[in-house]
Amino acid sequence: MRTDRPDTATPSPGRSTTGTAVAVAHPNVALIKYWGKRDEQLVLPWTDSLSMTLDIFPTTTSVRLAAGDGDDTVTLDGAPAEGEALRRVRAFLALVRDRSGIRRRAVVESVNTAPTGAGLASSASGFAALALAAATAYGLDLDATALSRLARRGSGSAARSVFGGFAVWHAGTATGTDESSYAEPVPVRKELDPALVVAVVDAGPKAVSSRAAMRRTVDTSPLYRSWAASSGADLVDLRAALARGDLEAVGEIAERNAFGMHAAMLAARPAVRYLSPATFTVLDSVLRLRREGTAAFATMDAGPNVKVLCRRADAGRVAEAVRAAEAGAQVHIAGPGPGVRLLDEDR
Ligand code: PMV
Repeated sequence: MRTDRPDTATPSPGRSTTGTAVAVAHPNVALIKYWGKRDEQLVLPWTDSLSMTLDIFPTTTSVRLAAGDGDDTVTLDGAPAEGEALRRVRAFLALVRDRSGIRRRAVVESVNTAPTGAGLASSASGFAALALAAATAYGLDLDATALSRLARRGSGSAARSVFGGFAVWHAGTATGTDESSYAEPVPVRKELDPALVVAVVDAGPKAVSSRAAMRRTVDTSPLYRSWAASSGADLVDLRAALARGDLEAVGEIAERNAFGMHAAMLAARPAVRYLSPATFTVLDSVLRLRREGTAAFATMDAGPNVKVLCRRADAGRVAEAVRAAEAGAQVHIAGPGPGVRLLDEDR
């Protein structure tokens, strides 16, 4: 159900407008990708996307209002944030302050358990946790839809990490702008029982940010429009496959959508290439598993790491096959995880 209401953003006296709010959120992996914005300022995408929130790699973020209206203090994994990361968090907090009417500066501390910047969606868990912690600390009373819209402004994929399990992020209507673009949960048949085997082949930061890479793909890739059109059809097929619990179909659709996105990137000028030789080694092991009868399907984001969708019962075997193929890979098994939530809610 889509609700195109404006956000309710009235400060509510019962909330912790003077205290600290702590929120935890998990990353998500898109089965239908978000790649390309039609509005960079509002973070409105060209296409709908659909993801699974993971039960590993949580981010925990606290926001404390401090005296005065100077610069916000931001600590990421124990070190002061700087550069683009600091700028993005401050811009996000400015948005929250504008809505709340409270001018006080914030002290933010965020601890991330996934390798940052390696295409493992740490920006999704990071901005989903920051959205809830900041909204609570500044006394905004947001429902899940409004929270998803707010998280979207920090990082598009964060709109989906507001929700647990599977979530679809609506690109929104051309005239509806901000209000019409938010994520919501997607019902999935229980029998699907999926796992994502995450093969980290390189945990270093990416050379090109997803923001810059998206812009370049949209502006210069002759394949972008055709990928975006086929992605819409993929979403319809994927939703139907999720509803009937058809893991093979879910995997096939997710894999073709990801390859299409990377093909569009490779056709950009100059090419955006995130995939490495180790990526292809893991992809070969996925193909082998499939030939041997195991339902296993790959998806990759803005980095060389591979996430393999399979049945939960097969996850151990899939992880072993990936490890055997690519000795340097760190392999993690994830299931569907929870949506964003506050810790110490009564503080
Ligand atoms: O939210 P961003 O700007 O980090 O973009 C993420 C884009 C992909 O991870 C590549 C795809 C997706 O839908 O998550």
